[in-house]
Amino acid sequence: MSDTVSEIVDVVTETAPDVRAGLTGRREYETSENPSGEQMLAADRHADELLEERLLAVDGVAGYASEEREEIVESGDGHLHVACDPLDGSSNLKSNNVMGTILAVYDEPLPAPGRALVAAGYVLYGPITTLVLARDDTVTEYVIDDTDEGVERRVVEEDVTIPADPVVYGFGGRVPDWHDDFEAFVREIEDELKLRYGGAMIGDVSQVMEYGGIFAYPALQSAENGKLRLQFEGNPIGYIVECAGGRSSDGEQSLLDVEPDRLHQRVPVHVGNTELIERLEGALH
Ligand code: AHG
Ligand code: MN
Ligand code: MN
Ligand code: MN
Repeated sequence: MSDTVSEIVDVVTETAPDVRAGLTGRREYETSENPSGEQMLAADRHADELLEERLLAVDGVAGYASEEREEIVESGDGHLHVACDPLDGSSNLKSNNVMGTILAVYDEPLPAPGRALVAAGYVLYGPITTLVLARDDTVTEYVIDDTDEGVERRVVEEDVTIPADPVVYGFGGRVPDWHDDFEAFVREIEDELKLRYGGAMIGDVSQVMEYGGIFAYPALQSAENGKLRLQFEGNPIGYIVECAGGRSSDGEQSLLDVEPDRLHQRVPVHVGNTELIERLEGALH
């Protein structure tokens, strides 16, 4: 990879150990709220500042947008528009569970539809640090090692595809807050699949990518567009899952076809095996 996208991926790779190292001592909530009205952890801000500075330094990057920032930080030139969820699942920090960093690279100004993505990836801060990257219609998994010689990224799996037989499911929100038709779908599949929900989308999506199944943060009675953000979470994860042979949906259509109107708009997110997403779309009406 030796182009702007490659440089962006190299920056995220090299930043991952610094984000991980910065988690310690940054578990407290700040007073400020992010554009989604959610409290930020010091760790959210630290990851966001590292990524902003380093990604804007890449020639070809036109701007940096983040779930944690109201406005896009423009670089003044460049043709690729980067959107990050600097730390996904940061509420897992207090309980020391997995978290991630989500990267979306669009070739149109934001807010942009998922079809404008040229690459998307996530770093998973698990027992080991991995990067899952989708570009050129294929998904590759890497391990990221911080060695004495510097940060190394090595391929552990090429052409990652979701297993044909689904095994796990995990859904955000609370049962009483789900819509009846979504709850009926859950009742239908809960005898077929194993419940695995970790509270960080990246961890839950990683399980779907590894074992097959479905993850969703659905529309709620209390929040018609659910919780997750289209530009920073829905589009990149939808792109990755679809590149891996699965499907994504906002309940009716691929997340990548959702026409955005606001940078921080939320969208119901459902991703996983095609057969499960199609059954879900059939159940929602
Ligand atoms: P973030 O930490 O970037 O704000 O994202 C948290 C999201 C996502 O990671 C996860 O799927 C969802 O919040 C979990 O929400 P609940 O805590 O309501 O289950
Ligand atoms: Mn958050
Ligand atoms: Mn998130
Ligand atoms: Mn986040």
